[in-house]
Amino acid sequence: MPKMVLSAPNFRRDLLNWYDRHQRSLPWRTPAPAGGRPEPYHVLLSEIMLQQTPVATVTDYFQRFLVQFPTIESLAQADEQRVLRLWQGLGYYSRARNLHRAAGVVMRDHGGVLPATVEGLRELPGIGRYTAAAIASIAFGKCVAAVDGNVTRVLCRLNGIESDPRRGATIERLWSLADSLISLRRPGDFNSAMMELGAIVCRPKSPQCLLCPVRHHCRAFAEQSQDRIPAPPKRRKLPRVRRWTFVIEWIFEGERRFRIERRPAVGRWAGMWQFPTIVAGCGAPADDDVERACPAAASVPRRILAIDHSLTHRRYRFTVFHGVAAAPDPDGIWASIDELDRYPLPKPHVTILAWLRNREASPTIGS
Ligand code: ADE
Repeated sequence: MPKMVLSAPNFRRDLLNWYDRHQRSLPWRTPAPAGGRPEPYHVLLSEIMLQQTPVATVTDYFQRFLVQFPTIESLAQADEQRVLRLWQGLGYYSRARNLHRAAGVVMRDHGGVLPATVEGLRELPGIGRYTAAAIASIAFGKCVAAVDGNVTRVLCRLNGIESDPRRGATIERLWSLADSLISLRRPGDFNSAMMELGAIVCRPKSPQCLLCPVRHHCRAFAEQSQDRIPAPPKRRKLPRVRRWTFVIEWIFEGERRFRIERRPAVGRWAGMWQFPTIVAGCGAPADDDVERACPAAASVPRRILAIDHSLTHRRYRFTVFHGVAAAPDPDGIWASIDELDRYPLPKPHVTILAWLRNREASPTIGS
């Protein structure tokens, strides 16, 4: 097969023409074509939410977030618990804490105006190489390429790169390839178009090559190697960790209340709330395990649920027990089901709350 030479001007012309006609209408984008630049705070918020989460999930969260915090100033002034509560369900909560801190830094050190350069943006908490480049190009028209997972796949296929794209040397090669292709006139649209192509056409499985606007520039298409590029990650078996969670209820003035506790200020679910949870031992919890988790519990509670929850680095199994309180401990926090809605809860605890609600609606379940 003759060596393919990628013509950057033709590639960007074909890509941008396609983007102008086929881009999805997303709430953080201005209407195509060339609708001016979107509001920098909206770009910041969308890019942080999109870091680990698909577009379809982010859309609703993004809109709800902007209703509560329409400006960077309102976000900076908000209580962190409110920010975490709005983020509940999106996961990777350090993003929310960093975003809140970044808003504070922008208000304090930049007069409320988001820095317009990659270097300035990278000084903000939670903003790395990709996010800084995406914001600088999309919100401020800076000519910098942004390479995320979708763009990595597009570039690997386009250039027939079969080496592991997680390796340092390959990463650097991809960033410079992206820089060599970017449109000087429309850098933000170029980056968005690359992401869009990766998301809807150059998909990980079953890429839609026959619909691809740049297939004639694509080495993998020419060689029919698109299904093995990029090289898949080596699957590691994630360690499994087990927790016991105790849903202890106390009926006060005819209303059920549940013991909750705040998680420590560090770690994945830092500062969020939960039903008392401890590291699981062998077999079933004994009296002193229950006492340690929730001093108010009257007896060894009954097992009601098992919840599996996978994170990037480990898999959790929460075994959930339900019991009643002998007498509430005066230092503890006891929340009714409706009050629980106001606390930011990690996903497994949201599942428990849904179970409790369901039981309220049909009291025979699990009673
Ligand atoms: N993924 C990351 N950033 C994105 C954006 N601006 N539009 C669509 N998908 C994205």
